[in-house]
Amino acid sequence: MKTVSLITGASSGIGLYLAHEFAGHRHNVVLVAPDEWELNTLANQFRSQHQVEVHTIAADLEEPGSFERIQSYLAEHGLTVDHLVNNAGHGRRGKSWEIPIEEDLSMIRLNIEAVLRLTKLLLPPMIDRKNGRILNTASIAGFEPGPLLNVYHSTKAFILSWSEALAIELEGTGVTVTALCPGPTDTDFFPKAGMENVRGFQQAKVMAPQDVAAAGYEGMMQEKLFVVPGTVNKALVMSRRLLSEEAQARLNLKFYEESPPEKRTRMRGDFEKAAAT
Ligand SMILES: NC(=O)c1ccc[n+]([C@@H]2O[C@H](COP(=O)([O-])OP(=O)(O)OC[C@H]3O[C@@H](n4cnc5c(N)ncnc54)[C@H](OP(=O)(O)O)[C@@H]3O)[C@@H](O)[C@H]2O)c1
Repeated sequence: MKTVSLITGASSGIGLYLAHEFAGHRHNVVLVAPDEWELNTLANQFRSQHQVEVHTIAADLEEPGSFERIQSYLAEHGLTVDHLVNNAGHGRRGKSWEIPIEEDLSMIRLNIEAVLRLTKLLLPPMIDRKNGRILNTASIAGFEPGPLLNVYHSTKAFILSWSEALAIELEGTGVTVTALCPGPTDTDFFPKAGMENVRGFQQAKVMAPQDVAAAGYEGMMQEKLFVVPGTVNKALVMSRRLLSEEAQARLNLKFYEESPPEKRTRMRGDFEKAAAT
């Protein structure tokens, strides 16, 4: 059996650079994302850049049938997952009563249900082998209520709480769980969630996905319970924990309100490109 690191949401943003981290540290990788053509293009780039074995599984993780296909692919190719990275996720900004229920459920299916399904599939063999590491991409959003990004915050609160409790349950088994809690990061998340013009993107400290991924990989390897990348995000999480829940919610409301037009100077990709040069 060959060992692999399996990364979901590996076609862009934080997941793409997490995949580069694993491959760059000489781990064979399985890239999971919805678009087969995009994955095949990436796989060729990874093979020439990193000289590791690269597998791709095109899967929509909101479809329960995807998990059987992932399991079959791993069995057919004789692959053992040593590192599981549950990273795929998405958000949607808006007032709770204006967001269609299907969009709420879509967030719950991808951000929560898919993480549970994939973990329940791949964790038992890790426990049997007494070896494995799991990295779940939560968010600093998981620490606090988030008006205008309500369901998203709630899904990340679930992932953060669930990951930390699971890590403690697993003590002594040889398997570790780490929750990666990024703050604002320059990825497609913001445009997809309708959030390119919010203060949280235009005026806050925004990190490059490359730096977030490096912190996540390192934290997982150091067996940390959770990782908050970046000094500003760390300070934000620590200071907000001293505030009342109501004060935290009101601060987040400001964060998700539209930035004044004269302060909208940032474009998606600015920080990602700057980190690459
Ligand atoms: N960006 C931030 O500020 C930020 C902060 C904290 C936490 N996070 C979390 O970080 C994680 C990665 O997001 P990102 O910021 O890197 O955004 P992103 O660039 O949009 O990446 C999301 C990845 O998930 C994939 N994906 C979307 N729907 C999927 C589905 N149904 N099945 C399988 N894969 C799917 C996407 O593929 P397609 O592109 O083909 O849809 C893409 O590869 C998410 O869990 C997000 O909540 C982001």
